[in-house]
Amino acid sequence: MKKNATLFFCQNCGYESAKWMGQCPACREWNTFAEEPKAPSVKGRPTRVGERREPVALGEIRSDDQQRLLTGMAELDQVLGGGIVPGSLVLVGGDPGIGKSTLLLQVCRSLSERLDRILYISGEESLQQIRLRVARIGEFSSSLRLLCETNLADIETTVLKMKPQVMVVDSIQTMYQESISSAPGSVSQIREATGVLMRLAKQQNIAVFIVGHVTKDGTVAGPRVLEHMVDTVLYFEGDRHASYRILRGVKNRFGSTNEIGVFEMTDRGLEEVANPSEYMLSGRPEGASGSVVVCMMEGTRPMLLEVQALVCKTNFGLPRRTAAGMDYNRLNLLMAVLEKRLGLPLSGYDAYVNIAGGVRLSEPAMDLGLVLAIISSYRDIPVPERTIVFGEVGLSGEVRAVSMAQQRVQEAKKLGFTRVILPQSCLAQIKNCSGIELVGVSAVKDAMAAL
Ligand code: TYD
Ligand code: MG
Repeated sequence: MKKNATLFFCQNCGYESAKWMGQCPACREWNTFAEEPKAPSVKGRPTRVGERREPVALGEIRSDDQQRLLTGMAELDQVLGGGIVPGSLVLVGGDPGIGKSTLLLQVCRSLSERLDRILYISGEESLQQIRLRVARIGEFSSSLRLLCETNLADIETTVLKMKPQVMVVDSIQTMYQESISSAPGSVSQIREATGVLMRLAKQQNIAVFIVGHVTKDGTVAGPRVLEHMVDTVLYFEGDRHASYRILRGVKNRFGSTNEIGVFEMTDRGLEEVANPSEYMLSGRPEGASGSVVVCMMEGTRPMLLEVQALVCKTNFGLPRRTAAGMDYNRLNLLMAVLEKRLGLPLSGYDAYVNIAGGVRLSEPAMDLGLVLAIISSYRDIPVPERTIVFGEVGLSGEVRAVSMAQQRVQEAKKLGFTRVILPQSCLAQIKNCSGIELVGVSAVKDAMAAL
């Protein structure tokens, strides 16, 4: 009998095992094992990245031939760390329908205005469907090449013949290698497909964008395997019902992962949002209680957002708390701090907190803003207009310093805010603050008084 003709793969992280297991020992997910045929072992699997085999002195390697290609979309260039690096492999992940295909098609359009060999490979849509999408996005240079293909061997042949400068593979889950009998989208197929694309990228010096759909629990389907093979991982996220989208760098071998790009989905494709703060704050109710503007940092970029809280008497014995866009436990913790340190009887009140615009906040710097929003709603007193708040709140009700206070104040000033409530210990960092009033606080009590 042939032994081990099949293996079991964790569909979440790619862990392989000879027998089925209920829980994956690597990623601790339940019920993720699926049986797949064992991949044929390829001798001397080509993973070589360069030509030379002998060690090279660092000083001898010329880096100036690594000219970055600008996509013409400033937000994307920034996330990539200053443009596309030739020969790099970029994974763009995101929920289905979030706009990955649209984004990459727009990148192709913008690139094909200057470069003549751009290839867009789609395994999901027919040429006619792509044509329809293109018609929505607008004018296109006719030199952009489209290919509808899912067979990797055929793709490889085409690519070797055409030698594109940049190519897009939409999506990796539809690609398959004939020699592997498992279905497209399975771990072995995805791993193999990425391997093939990586080889093409490195050996032919082609910048390759791979689209990867994300599963419902937030990982690129199957391939955590994929994340470590590629050079750059970008996630395209956003609330499907809100029109803005955030492109976030999660891993980047050629730049920082702190950058984000903000886009808006319009009826004519994605548009860059150069000033996200203004965008996020539009339509904010003025003079309403429970609404506070906070400043959070997305990497090196400050962004003003509105935190809304609604506190009202509990009807049943147990108070309800709902946190949209932030950590539920953090909300409970901050409410406990308010109850204990300020003596507010919040355990008899429901609290609903929402970050307007559908953003998710995880930075501690929003604590103070959240706390003030809760107090403001509890007392039904609006926070003075043109005021922004930031600072971390500790368990004893103290307000702690946060990083990059200067940038946050600058952003507030740029958008016409006149007053900033911030941690006392941040005051020293801030220079050049004419025209804006800084209120340093060292405890939540002081912040309350400052309102
Ligand atoms: P798409 O790029 O197909 O998503 P993905 O490839 O990530 O699955 O985006 C599809 C959504 O974008 C779809 O719901 C319609 C919307 N859309 C617009 O609102 N305006 C446009 O101009 C385009 C092309 C799409
Ligand atoms: Mg798509």
